[in-house]
Amino acid sequence: MATEFGVSELWDPVVRRDPHRFYDRVRATGRPVLQIDPAGNRFWVIAGHADVLEGLRHPAIGHEVHRRCPGGRQPAWHELSEVARIEARQLISLDPPDHTRLRGLVSGGFTARAVARLEPWISQLADRLVARARQQGRIDGIADLADPVPVNVIAELIGIPEPDRPQFRAWSAAIVSASIDSSAATLAFAAYLDELAARRRAVPADDLISQLVAHEEQGDRLDRDELVALVQLLLIAGQETTVDLISNGIRLLLTHPDQWQALRDDPLLAAAVVEETLRFRGPVEIVPPRFALEDVEIAGGRIPAFDRVGLSLWGANRDPTVFDRPHVFDIHRTDVRKHIAFGHGIHFCLGAHLARLESRIMFERIAQQLPDLRLAVDPAVLDGFRLHHDGLPLEV
Ligand code: HEM
Repeated sequence: MATEFGVSELWDPVVRRDPHRFYDRVRATGRPVLQIDPAGNRFWVIAGHADVLEGLRHPAIGHEVHRRCPGGRQPAWHELSEVARIEARQLISLDPPDHTRLRGLVSGGFTARAVARLEPWISQLADRLVARARQQGRIDGIADLADPVPVNVIAELIGIPEPDRPQFRAWSAAIVSASIDSSAATLAFAAYLDELAARRRAVPADDLISQLVAHEEQGDRLDRDELVALVQLLLIAGQETTVDLISNGIRLLLTHPDQWQALRDDPLLAAAVVEETLRFRGPVEIVPPRFALEDVEIAGGRIPAFDRVGLSLWGANRDPTVFDRPHVFDIHRTDVRKHIAFGHGIHFCLGAHLARLESRIMFERIAQQLPDLRLAVDPAVLDGFRLHHDGLPLEV
C-alpha cells in the first residue's frame, strides 16, 4: 500500500472526485498524514475510526488556539466589528468553559423528547411538499423536497412568526452562502432578533427565543452577541447538512433499485435509510478544523503545537475494521449505528435528533406517496453534479 502523499492531495480535483481512496490510504498508514491546506497551513489528516474518536475527545485538540499561542492574544471585544464579534462567539468554535456554558443553555430544546413534539408539524410539512410534487410531475429534488424542510422546522422551533418566514429564509440563504451579502444578512438578522427578543421579553411564548431571553435576564449567563450567535448557528448548522442528507438519501435510493423497492415495501425502513445515508455519504466530510493546543501524541503520530488537525468523518465511517464491506450502500447492515456522521464528544451535533426526525419523515412520505419516483437524468451524469448547485432532476 503506497504511503507517499502529495503535499496538498486532499484538495486536488482528482482526489475530490473520489476522496474515499485518499482516506483509505491515510488509514492504512496507521498515522496522521501531513497536508498543506490552500492557505499554506500545516494540516494533519486522521481517517481511522478509533483515531478520529480519539481526536474528537482529546482535551489538547481544540479551537481557541489564540489563548495558547506564544504572544497570541484575543482582541478586545470592542476592537471587533459586530459581525466578527458574533462569529467569534459561535458555540461550534469555542472550547470549555464558554462552550459548556452556552451549550447548557440550549441543549434542553434539542433532546429526543423535545424534538418529538414537532413530529406532527413536520409530517404536515412533508405531506404538503409531497402533494405539490405529485401535481408537478417533474421536480427538482433539492428545491421541491429537501430544501424547504430544515429552514421551516428551525423557524418553528426558534419561534419566528409565520409572516416573517420568507424574510428569514432569505437571510438564511444569504448567510449560508458565505457571499458578500452574508455580512449584511448577519447584521439585518441580528437587528431582527433584537426586536423579536424584546417582544418575547414583554410577552413570553413557548419557543426557544423566549427560553434564551429568560436566561439572559436571570443573571448574566448569556449576552446579546451570544444570543445572536447561537440562533444564527442553529440556522446555518442545520440547513445545508439536512438538505444534503435528504437529497443524497433520495439519490442513493434511486440508484440502488433493490433498496428503493425494499423501502417502498416497508416504509418503516426509513430510519435505516437515514442511518446508512449518514454513514455512506454523510453531509460532513471533515469536522471544522481544530488545532493541536500543545504537542500531541495521537493516532500513531505526533502533531506539533498549533498545527491544524483534520478529523475525517468520511474516513471513519468507511473503516473496514468497524464496517463490513464499507464501500457498499446497504440499508440492511447491522453495524450502521457505529457511524459518527454527527461527530462525537462535547461538540456532538446538537441537532442530531431533529435531523434524524426530519429526514426519516421525508423518506417515509416519499416511499408511501411517490412510489414511481425516478431520476430524470442518467445516473452517470449525476455523478458529476454538485447537488446543491445543479439540482436533482426527478420524475414523479
Ligand atoms: C455540530 C453534523 C444537522 C446544529 C455538528 C457536528 C457535526 C454535525 C459533525 C460536530 C462539529 C464538530 O465537532 O466540530 C450534522 C449533520 C446534520 C446536522 C450531518 C444533518 C444531517 C443539524 C441541525 C442542527 C444542528 C438540524 C440545528 C438544529 C448543530 C450545532 C452544532 C452541530 C449547534 C455545534 C454543537 C457544539 O459545538 O457543541 N453537526 N448536523 N445540526 N450541529 Fe449539526
